[in-house]
Amino acid sequence: MKISFAKSIPAKTDILVVPVFENADFSPALQDLDAAADGAVSAAAKAQKFKGAAGKSLNLIGLPGIEAGRLLLLGAGKQSDLITDTAEKIGGRAIAATPLTAKTIAFALDGFGGVETSADEAAAHVALGARLRSYRFDKYHTLLEADKKPALEKLVIVGAPTGAKPAFAPLDKMADGVFLTRDLVSEPANILYPESFAKRCEELQELGIKVTVLGEAQMKKLGMGSLLGVGQGSIRESKLVAMEWMGGKKTDPTVAFVGKGVTFDTGGISLKPGPGMEDMKWDMGGAGAVTGAMAALAGRKAKANVVGVIGLVENMPDGNAQRPGDVVTAMSGKTIEILNTDAEGRLVLADAIWWTQEKYKPEVVIDLATLTGAIIISLAHEHAGVFTSDDDLWTQINQAGTSSKDTVWRMPLSKAHYDMIKSPIADMKNIGGREGGSSTAAAFIGNFVKEGQSWAHIDIAGMAWNKKDSPTCPKGGSGYGVRLLNDFVAQNYEG
Ligand code: BES
Ligand code: MN
Ligand code: ZN
Repeated sequence: MKISFAKSIPAKTDILVVPVFENADFSPALQDLDAAADGAVSAAAKAQKFKGAAGKSLNLIGLPGIEAGRLLLLGAGKQSDLITDTAEKIGGRAIAATPLTAKTIAFALDGFGGVETSADEAAAHVALGARLRSYRFDKYHTLLEADKKPALEKLVIVGAPTGAKPAFAPLDKMADGVFLTRDLVSEPANILYPESFAKRCEELQELGIKVTVLGEAQMKKLGMGSLLGVGQGSIRESKLVAMEWMGGKKTDPTVAFVGKGVTFDTGGISLKPGPGMEDMKWDMGGAGAVTGAMAALAGRKAKANVVGVIGLVENMPDGNAQRPGDVVTAMSGKTIEILNTDAEGRLVLADAIWWTQEKYKPEVVIDLATLTGAIIISLAHEHAGVFTSDDDLWTQINQAGTSSKDTVWRMPLSKAHYDMIKSPIADMKNIGGREGGSSTAAAFIGNFVKEGQSWAHIDIAGMAWNKKDSPTCPKGGSGYGVRLLNDFVAQNYEG
């Protein structure tokens, strides 16, 4: 779908979308349309009691005097309340309401802006919302007839000020990153495994990202017994990928993002039950988010130094798989008693985070992981859980969560949680009890964070996959985390 900005409504628009503020006069464009249709628009709005409340819509098909086959009015709520979220939802809802056969959609946005949100921003976010909702992962549908695939080719934003186009440019790059993450998360595990995932990362070299891939031999030399133990039951070779985007000055600090990339999580010898196990193809959602964020940052040439590190393994039961009771030694030198081979993500992160600190001496480390089912019990699919003892870092992440709409909620991490994973035979065990399962998982990772290192862990298990459509995301991989990390960098590390 090609997105452009224009002064007038193109002829042959299949669908024309006009946002309407609650209890406000029609915009000049809508007044013109109403006049052209002899008052049919205002009459329909009156008959349907459509007053522009947020989320409400009025779909008018085949009006005389109006060239577009379909005129869609979307409620935008009160003008004084307009935020970018409303604008994105309007863009997304329009795409959701577009018939598969439509080729061109136009938005008439004159006068669409608010108090906190300028008309430039509002238009840019309408375009972003539309693009995000237009995502499809249908590469494996070979039997779809042509009329079952969306025909939409062109999206035109009309009537926005000239600042809208430049405001959209970086958002468009960010959407590229979100799409990459959705693609990675959607791929089945027979297609996306550590080596093929690493290859996808190498494609980012085109954007100016430096990509380094470590294999098992190198990781063994480095002493990554924790990560390697998880992958030892798989015939797929484990990989560690580092992606560097050095867009800042030499003297600028380095930000590090670390992602859990379990390309399939069977649970290992502590095998998961069968029903729903297919979901574990997206147990690489943290690594997917980090990869998409790197693509977004490089795509928009962010003026910051950022490194993304992902630990890629497949967790399988096998004659060579690790067993409950095994003791492994991590790269840091600490020993771990494996009590449940299904608590594997933390084992991957332990070595990936340690290596990242050694190699890059980052100012801040943020890890993202689909780490625990317990976080879904706590926060449902509404927020990712943030664990950190750094109050300032929490404030920054929370701010990025709000602006990006990748919502977060702070969760507890205290000495008690560290005590709950003490082992009688090793430095720690890889599970606590059922109680506080997300916090003990965070404490486990915290054992591999150096003294004085600023660090946050974000558990995205409830956020990486959408079970149903939302206004800006069709069901499937959500791309959660890309926008969060992008905004975190923009707000704190780009001057
Ligand atoms: N990948 C899972 C967590 C998960 C569950 C992600 C559901 C997304 C949806 C993780 O590796 C896991 O298995 N965690 C266990 C930990 C337990 C064994 C301590 C869990 O949450 O049950
Ligand atoms: Mn697991
Ligand atoms: Zn897992």
